[in-house]
Amino acid sequence: APVNVKKICCIGAGYVGGPTCAVIALKCPQIQVTIVDLNQSRIDAWNSPDFSLPIYEPGLVEVVKQARGRNLFFSTDVDKAINESDLIFVSVNTPTKKTGVGAGFGADLHYVESATRRIAAVATSSKIVVEKSTVPCRTAESMRTILESNCRPGCHFDILSNPEFLAEGTAINDLFKPDRVLIGSLQTPEGKNASAALAGVYGNWVPKERVLTVGLWSSELSKLAANAMLAQRISSINALSAICEATGANIDEVSHAVGFDSRIGPKFLKASVGFGGSCFQKDILNLVYLSESLHLPEVAAYWRQVVDMNEYQKSRFSRSVVETLFNTITGKHIAVLGFAFKADTGDTRETAAVTLIRNFLAERAYVTVYDPKVEVSQMWQDLTEACPDWTLEQLQKYVTIVHDPIEACKDKEAVVIATEWKEFLEIDWQTVYNHMSKPAFVFDGRLLVDAEKLRKIGFKVKVIGRGE
Ligand code: NAD
Ligand code: UGA
Repeated sequence: APVNVKKICCIGAGYVGGPTCAVIALKCPQIQVTIVDLNQSRIDAWNSPDFSLPIYEPGLVEVVKQARGRNLFFSTDVDKAINESDLIFVSVNTPTKKTGVGAGFGADLHYVESATRRIAAVATSSKIVVEKSTVPCRTAESMRTILESNCRPGCHFDILSNPEFLAEGTAINDLFKPDRVLIGSLQTPEGKNASAALAGVYGNWVPKERVLTVGLWSSELSKLAANAMLAQRISSINALSAICEATGANIDEVSHAVGFDSRIGPKFLKASVGFGGSCFQKDILNLVYLSESLHLPEVAAYWRQVVDMNEYQKSRFSRSVVETLFNTITGKHIAVLGFAFKADTGDTRETAAVTLIRNFLAERAYVTVYDPKVEVSQMWQDLTEACPDWTLEQLQKYVTIVHDPIEACKDKEAVVIATEWKEFLEIDWQTVYNHMSKPAFVFDGRLLVDAEKLRKIGFKVKVIGRGE
């Protein structure tokens, strides 16, 4: 019979492990949930008395307030939490490899491996080990080999794949009401029992018909497939946005018309300056690498194009700023509104804003940045990483970070909207206009503002995917 899960350990207290297991704790008061991490300051932030949590996610503080100290705990004592638990989520980072075989494409699995080795080394009883991290197809096989070759006698491990589909900014809602929960297991009696045990945990709040149980490899591949197909929709619409700009068609109208077809659907068809976020590019490159290593070069090239189109979109947008500003931005002052990779998050991983700013700096323009949520220190870190040829002093001569959008735009020749923060709609654009150099340009990379209204004020407005 399936194990009755009483204690859960989650290794990795990041964007996924933190919110996911906090919600499990909230919804399953009978289960004790301990989230562990090697990063002491991250754990301290999760435990902070004033709930200044390490990540910003709407609704997260309320969840942690209800469960922390009741049945939700954050700790750096990884071994103790592993040992006490019946079920362990491995929710560590799986970034793209920077060096060695597969550099720039393949997933760096060393965090997954060291967490797995730790489980084998310290567990004194049998466990269900759940891959929560996004991993290449068949990683569960490697985890099983590591566990079985290193564990103590009498310990048995069942491996499950349970990829996470939450999006940042809506994580809590996505976790409360998931489209589906996917659980992959070996199709053996033990594998199916382990799968039923995890399904039982989700059964506390997710309707049965939304919990899908499949084979291990299908589950692992479905996660890469879902992200690749979501990103592909954005690259498709962004490719069409270039045609719109060249022909006078309007990408919003095209998206609307196309999305009305119930087979296509309206979601995820918003043209943009390019997708960002920690996962789309990483997971597609992972799929490309997987395809290549399976000797499927045509398949690899097909998915590769989704990332190439995204790079094209970012450089196309930067180029259009330069061209519109009379073919030179050297010495000009540009305000960049938004730095996060999307609204409602403070996360900046792979944000298009960094690419734009780097391109502007390459032309020796001065850039002033405002974002309502991103930490100033994070912006400096991202910019120094993106511009390795620049010293921090040089960067600070060209880049200014401010805490107010109106101040950001003051005396600038152009405003670039890089993130779709709602508060940019509430900006008093007349005041912005009064204080800008003329002609005053607005480049909307997010189809956010009412271009006609701004034109009436006097702005020259360029919107992604809209020909004049
Ligand atoms: P993250 O970097 O925010 O968090 C990972 C945490 O794991 C870090 O705090 C790190 O210190 C910790 N860690 C690494 N190795 C460890 C070890 N051996 N022992 C203990 N702690 C360790 O990453 P994330 O954004 O939460 O992503 C985690 C995984 O989930 C990735 O595979 C990612 O692809 C996937 N994913 C992310 C999202 C998202 O929205 N961010 C959504 C779905 C899936
Ligand atoms: C994405 C997926 O939506 C999640 O299902 C998945 O779990 C997650 O990746 C992951 O594996 O990490 P996330 O990256 O948090 O979630 O955010 P999205 O809402 O998907 O946005 C990604 C990027 O695409 C953002 O830069 C966003 O601005 C852009 N985007 C999104 C568009 O340009 N157009 C759209 O129509 C939608």
